[in-house]
Amino acid sequence: MTDRRPLVAGNWKMNGLSAAAAELNALAKALADRPAPACDVMIAPPFTLLAPFVAAASGTPIAIGGQDCSHLEPGAHTGDIAAVMLRDIGATSVIIGHSERRQDHHETDDLVRLKAEAAHEAGLVAIVCIGETEPERDRDQTLNVVTTQLAGSVPDAATADNTIIAYEPVWAIGTGRTPTAADVATVHGTIREVLVERFGEDIGNGLRILYGGSVKPANAGELMAVANVDGALVGGASLKAADFDGIIDAYR
Ligand code: PGA
Repeated sequence: MTDRRPLVAGNWKMNGLSAAAAELNALAKALADRPAPACDVMIAPPFTLLAPFVAAASGTPIAIGGQDCSHLEPGAHTGDIAAVMLRDIGATSVIIGHSERRQDHHETDDLVRLKAEAAHEAGLVAIVCIGETEPERDRDQTLNVVTTQLAGSVPDAATADNTIIAYEPVWAIGTGRTPTAADVATVHGTIREVLVERFGEDIGNGLRILYGGSVKPANAGELMAVANVDGALVGGASLKAADFDGIIDAYR
């Protein structure tokens, strides 16, 4: 049995103006004042807030991550951000292949894998997102979809130190709906089997698998207790320090 330190990660998406640093400070205060959770904590703000958030998080247990990076080296690519730029500004991880990027920007498994490789090259942890859409779920394709996405999106050089998997059913994101604990156990168990088969026992059992999609303080305890759930990727409920801290409570 491998010890996997859970991660509770907040994905702020396209939210947050400069005043939002107050929420980060409130989270840092909650983490300092309350019992230390047995998990890592990360916030991924939009690019525009990375620098102030890195500064505000300095000296706190909060790590700062990006929400996406280019698969390319720095150069003539207007509007893109290279992985090395994220690392340079103080990010330690980056979310890759979120379903909103797969949908809004037509990101394929191949592109997601190249981005994860670019993240590794820059010394960032790649948080690789996978998950089925509602029609795929209705057609009973969930396990096929996540298995295919894992095969295509996760680099061969993945290790427990440089990669984290996030299972996010697309239909559960921002909807208030979640799979049952039993369904989460089935999907995470399958992901674990696939990882062990591909990477061997040590890496396969060492890789963390987050659950994401409508995680709230009220359901975090149940979801985080499911076998092979090694933390959460949280959208809406990460924007308010009190809600996010309430999710972190699952590990206090
Ligand atoms: P949600 O988003 O928590 O708002 O459902 C999760 C995510 O997209 O990472």
